[in-house]
Amino acid sequence: AITVDPAAQGAKIDDSMYGVFFEDINRAADGGLYAELVQNRSFEYSTADNTSYTPLTSWTVDGTAQVVNDDGRLNDRNRNYLSLAAGSSVTNAGYNTGVHVDEGKKYDFSVWARATGAATLTVTLQDADGTLATARRVAVRKNGWAKYTATFTATRTSSNGRLSVASSAAAALDMVSLFPRDTYKHQSNGLRKDLAEKVAALHPGFVRFPGGCLVNTGSMEDYSEASNWQRKRSYQWKDTIGPVEERATNSNFWGYNQSYGLGYYEYFRFSEDVGAMPLPVVPALVTGCGQNKATDDEALLKRHIQDALDLIEFANGPVTSTWGRKRAQMGHPEPFHLTHIGVGNEENLPVEFMARFKQFRTAIEAKYPDITVVSNSGPDDTGSTFDTAWQLNREAKVDMVDEHYYNSPQWFLQNNGRYDSYDRNGPKVFLGEYASQGNAFKNGLAEAAFMTGLERNADIVKLASYAPLFANEDYVQWRPDMVWFNNHASWNSANYEVQKLFMNNVGDRVVPSTATGTPSLLAPITGAVGLSTWATTAAYDDVKVTGADGETLLTDDFSGDASQWTHTGGGSWSVQDGQYAQTDVAAENTMVSAGDPSWHDYDLHVKATKKAGK
Ligand code: AHR
Repeated sequence: AITVDPAAQGAKIDDSMYGVFFEDINRAADGGLYAELVQNRSFEYSTADNTSYTPLTSWTVDGTAQVVNDDGRLNDRNRNYLSLAAGSSVTNAGYNTGVHVDEGKKYDFSVWARATGAATLTVTLQDADGTLATARRVAVRKNGWAKYTATFTATRTSSNGRLSVASSAAAALDMVSLFPRDTYKHQSNGLRKDLAEKVAALHPGFVRFPGGCLVNTGSMEDYSEASNWQRKRSYQWKDTIGPVEERATNSNFWGYNQSYGLGYYEYFRFSEDVGAMPLPVVPALVTGCGQNKATDDEALLKRHIQDALDLIEFANGPVTSTWGRKRAQMGHPEPFHLTHIGVGNEENLPVEFMARFKQFRTAIEAKYPDITVVSNSGPDDTGSTFDTAWQLNREAKVDMVDEHYYNSPQWFLQNNGRYDSYDRNGPKVFLGEYASQGNAFKNGLAEAAFMTGLERNADIVKLASYAPLFANEDYVQWRPDMVWFNNHASWNSANYEVQKLFMNNVGDRVVPSTATGTPSLLAPITGAVGLSTWATTAAYDDVKVTGADGETLLTDDFSGDASQWTHTGGGSWSVQDGQYAQTDVAAENTMVSAGDPSWHDYDLHVKATKKAGK
């Protein structure tokens, strides 16, 4: 039975509570949300991005052509260009199976070109079955680099298209581009409609961008200079705005080249177009994400702090300000109404992080007292790093702390009450990344159950976003993901449907309720579960764990002394932090340590009888 007291006043739920987290991971940007159909359009792919890349990745040459990096380049930030011999052509293979076009739709071609004599470019769209649109001819004038355009109307639908450019005379080419005319909200340099519409259909309260590990990695090592526009690891928002041909491409943390065609202006515009609050994250110069480094370079730190201030001016400043003017020049004189900014992502050195975070916060609050500066709690959801991070955040009276966790569905069911005991006088929570590990229905269900706990605690949990948002099925670095796609289709996960349900039905206020006679979360368990289940087994008798092929790995009556649990299967087991870990399992050839998210690779089954009274 559920008892509800309609007169009781629970927490107020903000309209912006549920949002999305966009990171350029799994090719979510180039070859994904960014609608550009040509891969490696500026010939900047490099082995520094990925050892399998060359400047001609995704291109084939018929005749003679070479990528050149010399003083004849388009501009300082766009180093390479293609030198194409007379009578030769180059062909681009797009993403996935090729360039996708829909019959009857328009496609805008553009190229920067330079020729020493008169040259005519012949541009074609075709697949193995023949032409996909009437060929276009472009006359290249003699006077240095210029941008040329042409429009195709597709005569057939194909996902295997190829874009070719042939030249009658020697010519230099750069920024070879093909965009569908029909982008989301018809924006120029726009977004792929089906993917953007899937986000819009969620009605997200906010968009967190652009990462993730993408943001902080390398930030303390390198700051771009005009003399060194190539290959730096640090993500700097200023590199991502202005004319696309002047955005230096970069190595992406996730192992590919990022064009920055989808940059900060486009992120702000997208947030506005879907009616969401923009929530950018800037690097704090302390990593996480597999590294343990913090910068001691005060000058570098100051530059990044200034960048954060300039970012706020870019978003909100008047058109008379330096960065507000740049926003206006890009087509948006009105402010983007930035109210929150994240500083750092998953830093695993909490003391070093907090020292630098405070410098960011002091500078931002001095100039923009109304902006909420969001801190974070490091890479873990429990443990000493997490505890220290939270302690420091509390002591520093931080407004909001970004927490991240990826756990088993069982964990999500068992931790519905996670925020019930959070200090109501401490920082608010931004649950910036979370997912039940898996794309199955049960994962969505576990997340939905967990989200009722977020909502019950909406006075302290102010923002929450599932992660990651997108994955191109042919370029996956991370699972699970909310929306999947290839070059012509996109489809939703069960997790997406859960997010949509919650985001489209945000209540005004929690109505407190109590329930009796409901099954306990710790009721007898049968089914595939993770090792983290063991943390709760004191409530059980006669527990038996079997592996995928039915062999018994572990038995115990859980008398209370975990170290006396017996293992009966292959490999050895150890107990740590209240969890079991299998440390050497020859059969699976896998190592698992306590808390290691790879636990779910095991197909363990637990059967248990609940102890009386538990
Ligand atoms: O969402 C994928 C990654 O998970 C993010 O980049 C990082 O913040 C987290 O570890």
